[in-house]
Formats: sequence, structure tokens, C-alpha cells
Amino acid sequence: MSRFFLCFLSWIMVFALDAPPPCGDNPRLRQHSNTRGSHRDVSSMTQQTVQQPDSGEDFSRRFRNALGMFATGITVVTSRTPAGDPIGLTVNSFNSVSLDPPLIVWSLSNDLPSRPLFEGCEYYAINVLAEDQADLSQRFAGRMGEKFAGLEIDDGLGGVPLLKGCCARFVCRNTVRHAGGDHVLFVSEVVGFDRDERAPLLYFGGNYRRLAP
Ligand SMILES: Cc1cc2nc3c(=O)[nH]c(=O)nc-3n(C[C@H](O)[C@H](O)[C@H](O)COP(=O)(O)O)c2cc1C
Repeated sequence: MSRFFLCFLSWIMVFALDAPPPCGDNPRLRQHSNTRGSHRDVSSMTQQTVQQPDSGEDFSRRFRNALGMFATGITVVTSRTPAGDPIGLTVNSFNSVSLDPPLIVWSLSNDLPSRPLFEGCEYYAINVLAEDQADLSQRFAGRMGEKFAGLEIDDGLGGVPLLKGCCARFVCRNTVRHAGGDHVLFVSEVVGFDRDERAPLLYFGGNYRRLAP
């Protein structure tokens, strides 16, 4: 009897969450409707994560959209090939790990052609982009090619290319890497850095942003 009552109660709750609010064309009510919708998404994802492993395109899209709610800066990670050619890619998975010793982390997709080159290098640099450098983010998010054409660069330790006009630059020794699903995690020691009082370029919800004045 009590089991039947619980079933009935949960059916009522599901019905109540699924029912669209009668918001008509009133924009204030539409706003309310969106808020309810996103709450419902979170609760259903929690259930799916715990009870019904989800997969496929829809999961990837929703997972990426949720991750996109974490605002980040944008960096360009640069190094050189054994032949001395500069390489670089746009990365927003960068983060700090430890002050003592000074360690940072970022992740690199297994599928990228530059992966073996970064895995094999001794040093690389993290260039933190300033708010007027969205063009550099776009340039280094393209497929390998002449990414450095026409760019003025500084030389860092081990000859790593350092981009000009950045907020901060960290030269790292390529020490520890961990497999992380479809990415490889670089946990590296910072051996040199500089910074500039420029505002950073931000990334949120798949778009470039600036700090509010
Ligand atoms: C804002 C932004 C952030 C990115 N962050 C990463 C990242 O953290 N790791 C990664 O592997 N790729 C990331 N990418 C994708 C690479 O920049 C992109 O795949 C690039 O083409 C790789 O360069 P490659 O083809 O020369 O290897 C990001 C792209 C953008 C636009």
C-alpha cells in the first residue's frame, strides 16, 4: 500500500516538473520558464548519471554546454619541434596546481597532430591572452599550418616561442603526463614567468568575453 502511494506521489511530481508553465508571450514569464527548464535538465542528468548511463551526440552536446558555464581565460601553448619549427595551439584547460613546487596543468586532445610533438618537447610556454588578442586565439585554434606567419616573438628557455602582448607567460619544463580519457594531462613545473597589467581575454558559453569595466 505504501509502495503504491510512493509511486503515485513520484508520478505526480514528474508530471508537475514536466508541465510547461502557462507563460504566454510575457517576457518576464518566459524568463521564469527558462529557469525551470534548466533546473529540470540538471535533475534529469543526475538521474541519468546515477541510473542510466547516457551516451551519444545529445549527451556530448549537453555535457559541453554545461562545461561551457565555467568561465576561463584563454592561453596559447607554444613550443618547438626537434627541427626547430614553432608549434602552438589555443587552450582553455589551463589551470594552476601547486605553489611549491610551482606546477600548472592543461589537457591536450589525443587526436591532434601536435600531440606527439608536445609530448616529446623538453620545454613549452603558456601564453595567457589579453582582451585584444581574440584573433590570436582563432589563429592558433586552426589546424596546423603557418600559425606563426608574420608574428613577432620572443625566445624563452630552450628556444620556446613567447607571444608578445600577453597578460602573462609561463615557461614550463615538460615533466609529468597522465592519460585522461580522450586527452592527455600535462602537469608541468614552471621555470620562468612574466606578467603585464593587461586585461585578460575570457571564454564563456562558447564565446569570447571581456571583463566588465
Ligand atoms: C577557446 C578554445 C579553447 C581550446 N582549448 C583546448 C584545450 O584545452 N585542449 C585541446 O586539446 N584543444 C583545445 N582547443 C582546440 C585546439 O586549439 C584546436 O583543436 C587546434 O586546431 C589544435 O591545433 P593543431 O591542429 O595544430 O594541433 C581549444 C580551442 C578553442 C577555440
